Amino acid sequence: MSLSASSSGTALVYDPQDPAVRMDPFPLYRRLQDAEPLHWSPVLKSWILTRYDDVKQVALNRDMSPDRLTPFFKTLPDAQRSILQEVIRYLNLWLVFRDPPEHTRLRRLLQAAFTPRAIEGLRPNIASLVEELLDRLEERSKTQGRVDLIADFAMLLPALVIMDMLGVPRDKLADIKAWSDDMVVFIGSARGVPDKYERARHGAQQMSGFFRGLIAERRAEPREDFISALIAARDETAADGPERLSEDELVATCMLLLFAGHETTTNLIGNAALMLMRNPEQREKLQARPDLIVGAVEEFLRYDGPSNSLARVVATTHEMHGATLKEGERVFAMLNAANRDPRQFEDADRLDIERSPNRHLTFGQGIHFCLGATLARNEGQLAINGLLERFPHMRPAEDEPEQWMDALIMRGMRRLPVDLV
Ligand code: HEM
Repeated sequence: MSLSASSSGTALVYDPQDPAVRMDPFPLYRRLQDAEPLHWSPVLKSWILTRYDDVKQVALNRDMSPDRLTPFFKTLPDAQRSILQEVIRYLNLWLVFRDPPEHTRLRRLLQAAFTPRAIEGLRPNIASLVEELLDRLEERSKTQGRVDLIADFAMLLPALVIMDMLGVPRDKLADIKAWSDDMVVFIGSARGVPDKYERARHGAQQMSGFFRGLIAERRAEPREDFISALIAARDETAADGPERLSEDELVATCMLLLFAGHETTTNLIGNAALMLMRNPEQREKLQARPDLIVGAVEEFLRYDGPSNSLARVVATTHEMHGATLKEGERVFAMLNAANRDPRQFEDADRLDIERSPNRHLTFGQGIHFCLGATLARNEGQLAINGLLERFPHMRPAEDEPEQWMDALIMRGMRRLPVDLV
C-alpha cells in the first residue's frame, strides 16, 4: 500500500497501480475529496479531481478537451509514433476524443443509427443470449465445478450483443476479443505492459481490415444491422447539403462501438455480481423483487461502476481550487470517486438498490454522454436478474480472490472465480 493510503499525516499520492488502491480505491478517494480535492499525482503527472461537482464540471466545461491524443502523439519519439501510425489514424476519428464542431457532426450521424427504436429492438436478442449463456455456464459448472464469471459469462454477453448489433458473424468472437485486448492496453492507459504499442498496432490493423471488408459487403448488400444504418446515415441539417460518414470514419466508428460496447458492460456485470455476493441483504431483496432491477442497476453503476475516470486535457489555462491548471496538462476526473461523494449522496458508501434520487455520473455528462447507455442498462438488467434467478446460491470462491485490472480509465476484474451451486 502506498504511504498515502496507509497512514494519515503523510502526503497523499494517487497511484492507481498500488495493489491496495487497485483492490479498493474508495478510502483514498474519500481522503482526497476531504484534504485535496484538486490533487497533483506525481505518479501520473496529472491532476486528479474527486468531488462530484468538480467531476461534473470537467465533463461540461469547454476549458477541458477530451482530445488527449494530439498532445500525447506530439511528445512521442519518432520510432514510437511510427509504430502507432495506424492506431492514430482511427482513434483520431473517434467522436469520444473530438471537440465541436467535429464532435457535433459525428454525433449527429451516429445518432441517426442509435435510435431508441433500434436499441429497444435489441432487447429480445439480449434476453435469449442471456438464457443461452446461462445454460452454458450451468453446463460448465457441472463438468468443471468452479467457473470464472468474467471469462465464462460477463465478457461473452456484451461482446456477442455488440457483434450481433453490428452484424459481425459470431464465429469471429475469439479474433475480435484478441484484437480488442491488444488495443485496450493502450486505450485504457495500462502501465507496466512493455509491448503495448506493438500490440495496439496489431489490434488496430487487424480490426480495421476486418471492418473495411464488412463495410464493403454491406454497401453491396445492405442488411438490418448497424453497419448498414451507419452507411445510410445522413445529416440533413449540415450547412453544405447532406453529409455522411467517410470510409475511414465508418471503420473507426465500428471499432469504437465494438470497444466501447463490450469492455465497460462486461465490468458492469462483473462488478454488480460481486457487489451482490458481498451484500446478501440487498441480494435477497432483489431476489424477492426482481422488478427492482432498474434502480438496482443504477446503484451498481454508482457504487462501483465500470468507468473509473474521464480523461481530459486543459484547453485553456484556468484556476481551480486555488491552483492554476495550465494548457496541455492532463486531468483525470474520477467518476467512481464522485459517485461516492457524501456531498452529493446520502450514506454514500452504502449499497442501496432502492436509492432515489441517484444522479450518478457513470455515463458521463454533457455532449459526450454515453450513446450506448440504454443498451448497457438493458444488458445489465437482464444479465443480473438472469444470474440471480438461475444461481440463487452463487458465491465468490473463498480460496481464490478476485483480480482487479490495472487500469485508470476502467474499473473491473480480470477474473472472478465463483461457485455457482
Ligand atoms: C456500462 C457500460 C458503459 C459505461 C459505463 C459507459 C460509459 C461511458 C462514458 C463515461 C462516456 C463518456 C466519455 C467521455 O466523456 O470522455 C461514454 C461515451 C460513449 N459510449 Fe459508453 N459506456 C458504456 C457502454 C456503452 C455501449 C454498450 C456503447 C455502444 C454500443 C457505448 C458507446 C459510447 C460512445 C459511442 C460514446 C462516445 C459519445 C460521445 O463522445 O459523444 N457505451 N460511455
